[in-house]
Amino acid sequence: MSDTELIKDLQQMRDEGHLSDALLRHAVRRIEKSDSRFDWVGVYLFDAEKNDLWLHNYVGSATEHARIPVGTGVCGTAIAEKRNIKVDDVSKVENYLSCNPEVQSELVVLIRAGDDIFGQIDIDSSEKAAFTEEDEILLQGIADKLAEQIASERR
Ligand code: SME
Repeated sequence: MSDTELIKDLQQMRDEGHLSDALLRHAVRRIEKSDSRFDWVGVYLFDAEKNDLWLHNYVGSATEHARIPVGTGVCGTAIAEKRNIKVDDVSKVENYLSCNPEVQSELVVLIRAGDDIFGQIDIDSSEKAAFTEEDEILLQGIADKLAEQIASERR
């Protein structure tokens, strides 16, 4: 995927007045299309009142994990520990929340503005150790652009 192209698209959407809802949906679709390693791509948003994550939108098989408590699974742990998480082999994660038995590896990249965490991009792959550090850097650039829009709506 050309990350700069998607980031440009997202900025253009902002300039045109689109809100974060549209940007989040566009980003998920584009990320999923960009690479055959990415079998499931979604965005979870953080609900500070309920202290959990809710599934905003996704591409891939249906999942029962529409809400995930902070601290649970890879997604909830990323929020609790305020960090991105790359899992090479999901069978080694004790509190893993399985969406689909085919998933082998997972990458969670936070959508954040400093310590303010808005949510995350979550990607599953049916290949073991599918994700690289370069993927994480590239996705962080996209997540940061999404965070800019979310932050501007919450001001
Ligand atoms: N595997 C995640 C749950 C979300 S699904 O992958 C869509 C987890 O352990 O938090």
